[in-house]
Amino acid sequence: MKILTVIGARPQFIKAATVSRVLQENRIEEIIVHTGQHYDSNMSDIFFEEMVIPKPNYFLNISGLSHGAMTGQMMEKIEGVLKDEKPDFVLVYGDTNSTLAGALAAAKLHIPIAHVEAGLRSFNMRMPEEINRILTDRISTKLYCPTTTAMENLQREGFDTMPCEVLLSGDVMYDAALFYSARSVNYSTLEKYKLAAEGYFLATIHRAENTDSMETLQAIIGALNKLHEQYPVVLPLHPRTRKIIQDRNMKVAFQIIDPVGYFDMLNLIKGSRLVLTDSGGLQKEAYFFQKFCVTMRDQTEWVELVKGGFNMLTGADQSKIQQAVQQFITRQFDSKSDLYGNGQAASVIVKNLIA
Ligand code: UD1
Ligand code: UDP
Repeated sequence: MKILTVIGARPQFIKAATVSRVLQENRIEEIIVHTGQHYDSNMSDIFFEEMVIPKPNYFLNISGLSHGAMTGQMMEKIEGVLKDEKPDFVLVYGDTNSTLAGALAAAKLHIPIAHVEAGLRSFNMRMPEEINRILTDRISTKLYCPTTTAMENLQREGFDTMPCEVLLSGDVMYDAALFYSARSVNYSTLEKYKLAAEGYFLATIHRAENTDSMETLQAIIGALNKLHEQYPVVLPLHPRTRKIIQDRNMKVAFQIIDPVGYFDMLNLIKGSRLVLTDSGGLQKEAYFFQKFCVTMRDQTEWVELVKGGFNMLTGADQSKIQQAVQQFITRQFDSKSDLYGNGQAASVIVKNLIA
């Protein structure tokens, strides 16, 4: 059996790391195609090195274009690779332009698609990710859902009656967090950034809905500037947001650092007082390590975190962000449940894929 994996963006390297390892353990041939969507060494290479992900067989070098141009160019090149490699399955992750390009190219050649992280919905069709995930789900043959909410979303959309298989696999990001957390302990991350355990807020910002409007980004930066007076704020900054902050000459009072590798990131989460983010992955990682999370978006796909009281949605509203932080820092994070499976999602996926 031959699996062809299409990845291109940071969160996909992290998700693919655990599944690739289980594929290797089962001696399944995996061809990795890296679209090039993320290309800086601290957005790409570092994950392959630290997490020991096999080197991509193909690097397509497509990045920094408009959504249509990026997706179209990826499709064209992936189609060529698929014709040469003739895989039994194309494996895609999440909801980026690389996900959709991989899925569409496969569907047009009638190659079955396996989608890891299927069924998530924000119900906001203005988000590029929502378009990518709905379309990818619709043309997939095997849909691996990380949560029961994702299963319910697909049921509501009629997937029960479609010629595809929907499976509750658990979340491969939980597998990754558990597996690599033990390996990250020698990284001395807090010393490197001069941070005290439980003595700082960890933030990230990169979503288009927050960075593309001056007003929204200013509200978030304003909130973080204010919070920095209470606890130091540290923000590993995505290159998209860095460019915008620099171009607009925005005033930042807190510590901006370059994007970090996964091991440093795990340590930054574990050492933080709480997390403020618009990242999908980070919302869950905060929960895995028992940190409250303020999500600076209007919707989340990880609704179980909000229902459970672990996560608050504030949008890009400066006063809501500050209020959410003040509420969380007085609370004890004392609940641990298995919202995202048992850390064996990759095994469930591979077992199903090769059955
Ligand atoms: C993409 C995904 C988003 C995901 C995020 C993870 C889509 C539509 N969006 O958003 O769902 O949450 O990745 O991080 O696929 N850039 C660099 N160096 C890099 C990568 C990006 O400088 O290594 C800059 C470029 O200016 C680029 C911009 O960031 O144009 C945006 O990158 P892009 O991949 O288009 O979108 P992301 O915001 O990263
Ligand atoms: N991450 C990282 N270094 C950073 C910022 C994020 O390793 O500097 C990790 C983070 O821990 C999570 C993943 O990248 O595992 C999330 O990716 P991102 O926020 O870019 O995308 P999203 O999850 O929003 O799609």
